[in-house]
Amino acid sequence: MTSANISIDGKAADYPVHAGSVGPEVIDIRKLYANTGRFTYDPGFTSTASCESKITYIDGDQGVLLHRGYPIEQLAEKSSFLEVAYLLMHGDLPSQQQHDEFKYLITRHTMVHEQLANFYRGFRRDAHPMAIMCGVVGALSAFYHDSTDIHDAKQREIACHRLIAKMPTIAAMAYKYSVGQPFLYPDNSLSYTGNFLRMTFGVPAEPYIINPVVEDALDKIFILHADHEQNASTSTVRLAGSSGANPFACIAAGIACLWGPAHGGANEAALEMLREIGRPERIPEFVARAKNKDDPFRLMGFGHRVYKNYDPRAKVLGEAATKVLDTLGISDPVLDTARELERVALSDDYFIEKKLYPNVDFYSGIILSAIGFPTSMFTALFALARTTGWIAQWTEMMEDKEQKIGRPRQLYTGSPRRDYVPIEQR
Ligand code: SDX
Repeated sequence: MTSANISIDGKAADYPVHAGSVGPEVIDIRKLYANTGRFTYDPGFTSTASCESKITYIDGDQGVLLHRGYPIEQLAEKSSFLEVAYLLMHGDLPSQQQHDEFKYLITRHTMVHEQLANFYRGFRRDAHPMAIMCGVVGALSAFYHDSTDIHDAKQREIACHRLIAKMPTIAAMAYKYSVGQPFLYPDNSLSYTGNFLRMTFGVPAEPYIINPVVEDALDKIFILHADHEQNASTSTVRLAGSSGANPFACIAAGIACLWGPAHGGANEAALEMLREIGRPERIPEFVARAKNKDDPFRLMGFGHRVYKNYDPRAKVLGEAATKVLDTLGISDPVLDTARELERVALSDDYFIEKKLYPNVDFYSGIILSAIGFPTSMFTALFALARTTGWIAQWTEMMEDKEQKIGRPRQLYTGSPRRDYVPIEQR
């Protein structure tokens, strides 16, 4: 093991440097404060590794994304979302028997407690689905006391299975409530994604015919959103979990964080931006706004903290968008606008210098809209898929012997100590 020597005020100390299996080494600075009385300072954690993990690896410069070593492009093309969920949780692709057992376990947990339906009736019909998801998922901890003992590995596993299984049911119920249609119970004879499509778009009055092209495209979208290293919402789940909070509460915290337009909320914002642009002739106006320091506007679905190359997920989604719309016989001018916006931005010095490329949120909304989802459901779908990554990361943290409650420090620039002044003397 090599080390890094840090010298402050003439006092030097060596700090261990740890190497991973691939990717940047880390400088272990756990003893820095004890040695120097100083903290590191890294707003947004641009240079900070918060944990050790074996789940997902990203090389932002090369545009590489691996889940347990498998490239995302191969998983998107050859795997299924449920198989990727198994891979993220257990570390290897399942055998046929392991796959079938996992599928059976998840399928047996797809229903939610009947009283949970009452929660929806407390919301306004026009409540944002993410507001409902935050509330309902957090409320799961009020129903499943037999799987909230986080120190019991079996209970942790049941809670993870429940979350993977129930997210589609909860998301579909949020959509049904918003359109005033009755909830549909899961039909466990269907695939994971087919079940979700039927619960979302089916009605009790007639059978729902699953379009295999749509089922396959949505399953691929779920795979592409499953996990992504220590992003903001995953870090939120880990931080919540580090206090010993139950997994349902941790996932609800992750949903809340994902909702932000700088994160998972960008898929909804990106499609709304593309629709606002409307025609390719208006692209220069929006690109100019994105480059204007005095304008808070940003190209939604563009840029990434880690990827300084093309987000490999955006590549897969860009190709899938053309295929799905062609197969469904849908001509959506927004796709042409997106393609032209990408072309203009990627040839503009501002975007080239800042290494801003389309990210996972740039094309996903076009496909989701073609399938029939309103933009308000886009981030709920992201949360549905990312739940598998969140619970894999949460489980890894719970099994990490080195894990302790996360508690960052700060650079304090407020008032030094001062005495209270009675109001009559102020
Ligand atoms: C996701 O972390 C993950 O892994 C997230 C995610 C996952 O799977 O979990 O990949 C999912 O959240 C994807 C990102 C979705 N968000 C968006 O598409 C929103 C638009 N993008 C940005 O807001 C931004 O790019 C972020 C938030 C994604 C990244 O921001 P950073 O890393 O903090 O970078 P920054 O804001 O410091 O930007 C660097 C520079 C700035 O210019 P300067 O101050 O250096 O002059 O690039 C500019 C920014 O102004 N910039 C953009 C831009 N994104 C960055 N300018 C115009 N349009 C943009 N989209």
